[in-house]
Amino acid sequence: MRKLNTILLFIILVFGSVSAKEGMWIPLLLEKYNLAEMQEMGFQLSAQDIYNAHGASMKDAVVVFGGGCTGEMISAEGLLITNHHCGYRQIQSHSTVEKDYLTHGFWAMSREEELPNPGLTVRFLEYMEEVTDQVLEGTDALAIAAKEKKTKENITSLEREASADGRYLAQVKPLFYGNSYYLYVYKVYRDVRLVGAPPSSIGKFGGDTDNWMWPRHTGDFSLFRVYADEQNEPAEYSPDNVPYQPKKFFPISLDGVEEGDFAMVLGNPGSTMQYIPAQEVEIIMKQRDPDRIAIRDRKLEVVRAAMASDPGIRIQYAAKHASISNSWKKWQGEIRGLERLDAVVQKRAREKEFQHWARANGIWDNRYRQVFEQFDSLYALYSETIQAYDYYSEIVFNGVEIFRLASVVKEIMDSLENQQDERLESQLKNASKALSSFFRDFDRSTDEMLFRELMPLLANGIDAQHLPAYFSGLLRKYPGEKLVRKVYQKSVLTDEARLQELFSEANHRKLKKLRNDPLVACFQQLNFHFETTVKPVLDSLTRQLSENMQVYMAGIMHMKQDEPLYPDANFTLRAAYGRVEGYEPLNGVKYKHYTTLEGIMEKENPGEEEFTVPERLKELYRQKDYGPYASGNSLPVCFTASVHTTGGNSGSPVVNAAGQLVGVNFDRCWEGTMSDIMYDPEQSRNIAIDIRYALFVIDKFAGAGYLLEEMELTGKK
Ligand code: ARG
Ligand code: GLU
Repeated sequence: MRKLNTILLFIILVFGSVSAKEGMWIPLLLEKYNLAEMQEMGFQLSAQDIYNAHGASMKDAVVVFGGGCTGEMISAEGLLITNHHCGYRQIQSHSTVEKDYLTHGFWAMSREEELPNPGLTVRFLEYMEEVTDQVLEGTDALAIAAKEKKTKENITSLEREASADGRYLAQVKPLFYGNSYYLYVYKVYRDVRLVGAPPSSIGKFGGDTDNWMWPRHTGDFSLFRVYADEQNEPAEYSPDNVPYQPKKFFPISLDGVEEGDFAMVLGNPGSTMQYIPAQEVEIIMKQRDPDRIAIRDRKLEVVRAAMASDPGIRIQYAAKHASISNSWKKWQGEIRGLERLDAVVQKRAREKEFQHWARANGIWDNRYRQVFEQFDSLYALYSETIQAYDYYSEIVFNGVEIFRLASVVKEIMDSLENQQDERLESQLKNASKALSSFFRDFDRSTDEMLFRELMPLLANGIDAQHLPAYFSGLLRKYPGEKLVRKVYQKSVLTDEARLQELFSEANHRKLKKLRNDPLVACFQQLNFHFETTVKPVLDSLTRQLSENMQVYMAGIMHMKQDEPLYPDANFTLRAAYGRVEGYEPLNGVKYKHYTTLEGIMEKENPGEEEFTVPERLKELYRQKDYGPYASGNSLPVCFTASVHTTGGNSGSPVVNAAGQLVGVNFDRCWEGTMSDIMYDPEQSRNIAIDIRYALFVIDKFAGAGYLLEEMELTGKK
């Protein structure tokens, strides 16, 4: 009994009782772990209403939107709502300087006017299932390499079987660092059309200045429609397709939210690192975040100046700027949050407690001691290697854009040299197709400037051993502008017509000359060095680290036994819940949980693009013409809740205790962004657009009220 008590005490000390709000839970296990608490907090429905593999449930109304967002069905006719920033690339792709939907918005006034988006998919989760035993079958007695191989084989065959000859997309993913595995089976719809998007002055109001911030006034939503064939099954785009009929769509509440209300977010959180040891937390806050912030400072300077100088470039680089700036800002909030929580010290304390628990159970010395010793030595090497990785990633692979083209050419050269004619042929065909979309959003002088600014950063930022001697020599010989002249301006890669000709002519002798192109050669050298020296070391380190994490994680799971424990996010469906509430960002300051149209007027600044308010919105404000979307005399715009979310949750439904849609998630508060590593119930808040604001914009602002007829609106009318 004594021992049990000590153990219990340690459990409480170590991981605390998980706060009512922390956690991204597996829908399948809600009944077991969460339902009682959810109901205590006000939730009125059952776990089956959220996830039911055998009948319609909320999960049938939630989709993976594109490659990294969530969306939800809001009508029986395939209507979908997600964020404006999730549909941004699509809206941009339909925009030109003359017909600028990004600036002015887009509203289909009939089904015929909806715009197809080649390449865009939404996927519906058919079912999920724990498959740990099947994945690990026959691996018990095997050594590490053989075990890995067998595991992979098991996964492949599970996925193959579940895909039912390609009818479904089946993915097996590890949870808890491979201590368990789940199978996710999706149906993928490929005809998804743009229905409506507000102007950026609403959908991106506040822009990158307000991004990650509260109080917030962004109308971050857009509408799409999913189309299917006659049988309601996925089909490529065709004018004959018909609106998809979902098994379930969300009813919408016009009643709004009150402080303290239960709120749940169902969506696809991308990735979190809740269980990493203190060493890694320290590397993130002291090295990785600062390094990447500094590199992006430069990128943003260059891109901003270019966008300000030319309206064409402004459109070309709009999405790129938004995405560079997004993580850049998040990392800054993350560092501050981790510092405020004293995260490294907290992590060490938790590890100490874990050690006590393991000792008390007599399993420290033979199982966990070496794990922690290994962390020490592995992370010492890791920090230097990950630094090189971050620099290469930010500068070579995702920085100077022409290197993307150089990489395509390099692959072509490889096939040429190895005389892989078939491969070469298809590469040339693909490359030729990709050229126009690459150049569409490419501005040579902007990219040249990036090259000029970023190359010296790369040369000076990492240890010389991580760079090819060729490159360091080049920079010494041709400092500053000289390098641009010597490498960038001597290259044919920026000449679209010339490349197109080379690719379509497919003359091997002429193609071979590209090997000596200075940009191709520069990329080739950097890439080779990265692939042969940086990457193998990093791969080996991450592998060893994750082997140790798997053991540590198993220990945590053992220690917590039947207590609720949530796995790190992995871009699969999760349910997270909390309450509608504000927070105190600073001593003496209390933020409310909601904002209104008055706040938009307060922030208005016609001189600043990010804070321009459309005339029509001002007119509605002056007339107080809010229709049924008002709350008192005001029009609600956004609200915050203490729901644990992360990137990927953008576009997720925020539902009330009755399972009705009250908001669409789109962000987190800056002060709480360290929640990917350490959640803080006091400061971590998700941000949603109040659904009433979205409806108001559709109906009153855009005059597309016909879209509301297919929705199920409940509450105040
Ligand atoms: N911070 C949000 C997210 O992580 C919104 C990003 C898009 N908005 C922007 N202004 N860049 O995705
Ligand atoms: N805006 C993020 C997204 O695109 C959600 C914000 C967050 O990271 O919580 O998923």
